Formats: sequence, C-alpha cells, structure tokens
Amino acid sequence: MSAQIIDGRIHAERLRAEVGAEVALLRAEHGLQPGLAVVLVGEDPASLGYVKSKGEQALAAGMHSVTHRLPADTRQDEMIRLVADLDADPLIHGILVQLPLPKHLDENAVIAAISPDKDVDGLSVANAGRLVAGLPALVACTPTGCLILLKATLGDLTGKRAVVVGRSLLVGKPIAQLLLAADCTVTMAHSRTVDLPAVCREADILVAAVGRPRMIRGDWIKPGACVIDVGINRVPFDHPEQAAAGKTKIVGDVNYKEALEVAGWVTPAPGGVGPMTVAVLLHNTVLAAKRQAGLEI
Ligand code: GUN
Repeated sequence: MSAQIIDGRIHAERLRAEVGAEVALLRAEHGLQPGLAVVLVGEDPASLGYVKSKGEQALAAGMHSVTHRLPADTRQDEMIRLVADLDADPLIHGILVQLPLPKHLDENAVIAAISPDKDVDGLSVANAGRLVAGLPALVACTPTGCLILLKATLGDLTGKRAVVVGRSLLVGKPIAQLLLAADCTVTMAHSRTVDLPAVCREADILVAAVGRPRMIRGDWIKPGACVIDVGINRVPFDHPEQAAAGKTKIVGDVNYKEALEVAGWVTPAPGGVGPMTVAVLLHNTVLAAKRQAGLEI
C-alpha cells in the first residue's frame, strides 16, 4: 500500500466546529440564528438517513432546523406550496429538497420554487450560472467538500491536470467549474468518453462521480495521483454466505484496494467525501443567512 488516506470525517469535524463558532457569534452579535429547512418526500432508507443527519448536525451547530417529511404520493402543487412557504419564512435561510424525488414530481419546477438566495444546494439555474460566471454563488455541497479536501491535501492546485468522471448537475459539472476556477486543466469524462482508462491515467486529480460501484480500476490511476471518490453505492457483501443472507455494504466508484496500491492519496467510501457534504451544507446555510442579513456579499 502506498496511498495516504484522506479522512473526510476529520476535515468535516473541523468545518462543523468553524460553523458552530460562527453561528454562536452571529447569534450573540447580530441576533441572527441561521435556519435550515430540509424536505424529504417518501421513505427511501438512504435519504431518510441523510436527512436525519442534516437536521441533527444543524441543531448541534446551534442553528434553527426544521425537517418536513411528506408522503411519497405528495402532489406537485402541495410540494410547490410548501417550498414557497419556506421561501417566504424569515426564520429559514436555507432550503434543501432531498433528491431524488418520486418520479411523478417535477424536480426542476420544485428547485425553481426556491429563491437562489436560499438555494443552499446550489442547484438553481441562477446559482449554477453564477458559479460559471465567477460571481458570488451558493455552490453545491458535495463539490465544495471535494475542493476543500483537495486544497487541504495538495495545497495550491494551479496547473494540475484534473479529470472529472461524471457530468451531473449535483457533482460533476460544479466540481469541474471549481477546479477550473482553482486554475486546474480540467477534462470532463463520462459514459461516452472514448478510452476512459487512458483519460483517467492523465489525471493528477481524479474525481469519480459516476454512481457505478468500483468502476475506476487501479490501472486507470496515474501513480501518485490524488483520487477523490464521490460514489456511494450499496452492493452485496463480497462473502457469498453474507451476500446470500441479503447483507449489503457501501462502496465507492473507485476500486479502493487497487487505488491504495497506486494513488498518492485516496478518499475512502464511506468516510471520505460523504461527511463533508453535510458540513458544507451547514456552512452554506450560514453564508446564506449572512447574505440575507446584508452582512456579506
Ligand atoms: N441526494 C444525494 N445528495 C444530495 C445533495 O447533495 N442534495 C440533495 N438535495 N439531494 C441529494
């Protein structure tokens, strides 16, 4: 094994402590308590877990936190009305609608009902555009978490060759923009990329965000590269008896064992990027609250 493991839990704990200190200051000096609203539709067990953790961590940081759990058959107009109410609530500074939504709901319309100032997920057209334009924006939480880990690990990223595998609005596209803004030379790769292993082998920084378990093999990685694994995939246990008993575990998009032999640094999954996402959500909510109060641009 040659790679160093990037422990996302430690970085997330540090960020949460910073957020907690800032919340205490805002409450003491400005009477401002940042408020986060999280909306979950349906009973998806993974989403339930994420939403619970978001609410608990917001409270632990001293924030105002509300969670709305709606039945899976919630109608579009009910959803839009709830989001509009939260958007008009002065105690709420950030709104996160947990994705994916049930198929009958129009995700784009729901996101469009959140004003860009409260869109702590950075998913609105306005925030995506502001990121590309280099204007102050709320940037999606997972990509921001990846960038924090990369800067903490590598320092200045100028001139590094970065390859992002995956082109989602939630991760692939914003992380590519953040890396570009950090002066990396960025390639966006995806399922239609020709000779993906060769493209990945060029990367000093390899970000895997495809949602396919252990897709990135060890021989796709440039020796010494920094590998950021965004994937959270539930798979059967390797051991046939445990798999037969229906036991599952979480693995990333990177073949972790193989990556450890080749990479310079690698994030584990779980325990790498995942914990950063929630910590950045709290950070974004504080930022949104300060901007709404006119304390920061
Ligand atoms: N589902 C998985 N990750 C996320 C996220 O970062 N934001 C939202 N809204 N939904 C998600």
